[in-house]
Amino acid sequence: MFETDKEVLDWYEAQPRALSKEFVDRIPWRDVANYQLNPAFVPVLVYMRDVEYFTEIYYRELMRTPTGRDPVIKKFMNRWSTEEALHAELLNRFLNEAGIPTTEKWQAEAKAKIPWRYTVESFILDYALTPFGKSFHAAHMVWGTINEVTTLQGYRRLSELARHPVLSRILGAIMLEESVHSNFFWNMARMKLSQAKFSRDLARFIIKRFWSPVGQGAKPESETNYVISTLFRGQQGLEFFNRTVESRVARLPGFAGFTGLTERVAPIVQA
Ligand SMILES: [Fe+2]
Ligand SMILES: [Fe+2]
Repeated sequence: MFETDKEVLDWYEAQPRALSKEFVDRIPWRDVANYQLNPAFVPVLVYMRDVEYFTEIYYRELMRTPTGRDPVIKKFMNRWSTEEALHAELLNRFLNEAGIPTTEKWQAEAKAKIPWRYTVESFILDYALTPFGKSFHAAHMVWGTINEVTTLQGYRRLSELARHPVLSRILGAIMLEESVHSNFFWNMARMKLSQAKFSRDLARFIIKRFWSPVGQGAKPESETNYVISTLFRGQQGLEFFNRTVESRVARLPGFAGFTGLTERVAPIVQA
């Protein structure tokens, strides 16, 4: 168990990249078209690609907050944002190799589709929360944990359901990096939450009241719901989500018995 922020950062920085240059250079792109890709997963891949890319925007948003000015978090985010950017790039290349063309300007196009309201709202939210300063670190870290764990488990489901060998190979390495991100955020959240009851109460309130699945807001709700219902469909999918995502969050200080995420996802996957 880590005792300080610095220890978590040192651990993160000691992790080798799963998507090393050697790994990326050996991706058998030529084989992609030899296997079938169920078209139902194409919008899922596009969504995931864009949300990976949006990390850059989230990164800039977080930099405006006291959390982003924290030296440890800042250092983490420098590496983290480059890792997420590569995930986006690889998913885009996979789509192309699978015969789904995207334009050179896919990033600009994805960004242009973000509703203005989302940008304004997140800006206001950041400023509204500034007075809470450090107490809000914990909530940010819990939020980050949920996003990373959801992404990780979403990729796991996608890999299992799509059964495309090249995709699974790429996702396997991406998942290793998402797992490292999840551990970083989870451990930071655990430490920040254990510091003060006010932080725990604030974080629980914020997640319960405001959490929405990763990407929603920047992406229309209908697209988020499509991804969730495709990957976590039915009772079985919901149980998987509960076991892998919610239970991880519920192990954080102040989150015992928390069911807010499953409650939010249940109507989507059971529809
Ligand atoms: Fe990622
Ligand atoms: Fe990540």
